[in-house]
Amino acid sequence: MSPLLSVRNVSRNFVVRRDILGRARELVHAVDDVSLDVDAGATLGIVGESGSGKSTLGRLALRLIEADEGRITFSGRDLRALPPRQLRALRPDMTMIFQDPYSALDPRWTVGRIVAEPLRVAGPTSAAEQRAAAVEMLGLVGLDGDAADRRPGAFSGGQRQRIVIARALITRPRLVFCDEPVSALDVSTRAQVLGLLRDLQRELGLTYLFVSHDLGVVEAVSDRIAVMYLGSIIEVGPAEAVARRYRHPYTASLVSASPAPDPVAQRSRRRVVLAGDPPSPVEPPTGCAFHPRCPLAQPICAERKPPLRTGPDGHAVACHVTAGNPQLAGEALLARMTGSALSLKTTLPSHHPLAEGTSR
Ligand SMILES: Nc1ncnc2c1ncn2[C@@H]1O[C@H](COP(=O)(O)OP(=O)(O)O)[C@@H](O)[C@H]1O
Ligand code: SF4
Ligand SMILES: [Mg+2]
Repeated sequence: MSPLLSVRNVSRNFVVRRDILGRARELVHAVDDVSLDVDAGATLGIVGESGSGKSTLGRLALRLIEADEGRITFSGRDLRALPPRQLRALRPDMTMIFQDPYSALDPRWTVGRIVAEPLRVAGPTSAAEQRAAAVEMLGLVGLDGDAADRRPGAFSGGQRQRIVIARALITRPRLVFCDEPVSALDVSTRAQVLGLLRDLQRELGLTYLFVSHDLGVVEAVSDRIAVMYLGSIIEVGPAEAVARRYRHPYTASLVSASPAPDPVAQRSRRRVVLAGDPPSPVEPPTGCAFHPRCPLAQPICAERKPPLRTGPDGHAVACHVTAGNPQLAGEALLARMTGSALSLKTTLPSHHPLAEGTSR
């Protein structure tokens, strides 16, 4: 089966400063030579800290912005080669859910009109058809039909995000780019909205490109996970492998920074404290872009960029040190990074009294 979405060697720079003659003085390499595939009906999660290029990559994949280089194939069509009219005809098939449910909804419009808007833009439909579709879609996202006659101000954050989702799905898209869809929500609402997105995926056969800075959130919804650092994918593979048997030191630092599901595990979790701030995307470090912050860095890391190398299980990592060493994964990798050998305590079950207070 060929993937629904395929991205090959895609790059995009932004000019952030020009000289007085209008020539580019500073370029941000927002997305640098990225390739990925998303199978129909599956979710590819993309995780990385703010500024790593996640939103840019999603926008490029849907051709909401133009790539400088590379090839993007959606449902067998070469997206970058499509003339504007054909691209417009494809728009209803590829939609986007934004992060902030407050700014995404026009407070003056009724919810019914907001939800039906993409349908109106997509082609000729009657007002009655638009209304019926909006009411049906509001039902699918768990809101009452009479929500259609109210305005966004009458709804909570979680309900507003349901309205945003209804609007994104009204054209019955195949691919949905979810850009930090739960980041603005409190923790309990977050779980409900993630559950709703999973249910809708099953019912409607949706394919998700799902972006978040939170590895836990991405793990909850993804079949595969790609980890981005400074515009590049540095690790990608089956969700469980990347989240549990992570092989890149940066992924390990993300895991150690995200809250563990239970307090005991939280106490025993190792913390990697990264040296320094995220480097500037204007002048990214040479070699492996993570090398100035990496506790495992070797001389070669500053010189050569490690290629993304894929193992037999489809788990790929770009690291000079760990790529050839499959044992250096998960807890063992964290232990190496925090400087302690894998101790007795970390091999004990997390509820064991001796397991408490393991290195921070
Ligand atoms: N329109 C733009 N103009 C200039 N720089 C941009 C633009 N969009 C994104 N960038 C820069 O590209 C990098 C990646 O941004 P973004 O894709 O938004 O990252 P993320 O979604 O992971 O936070 C950042 O350094 C950001 O400042
Ligand atoms: S290539 Fe070197 S600097 Fe980069 S993550 Fe691996 S060990 Fe660290
Ligand atoms: Mg973003």
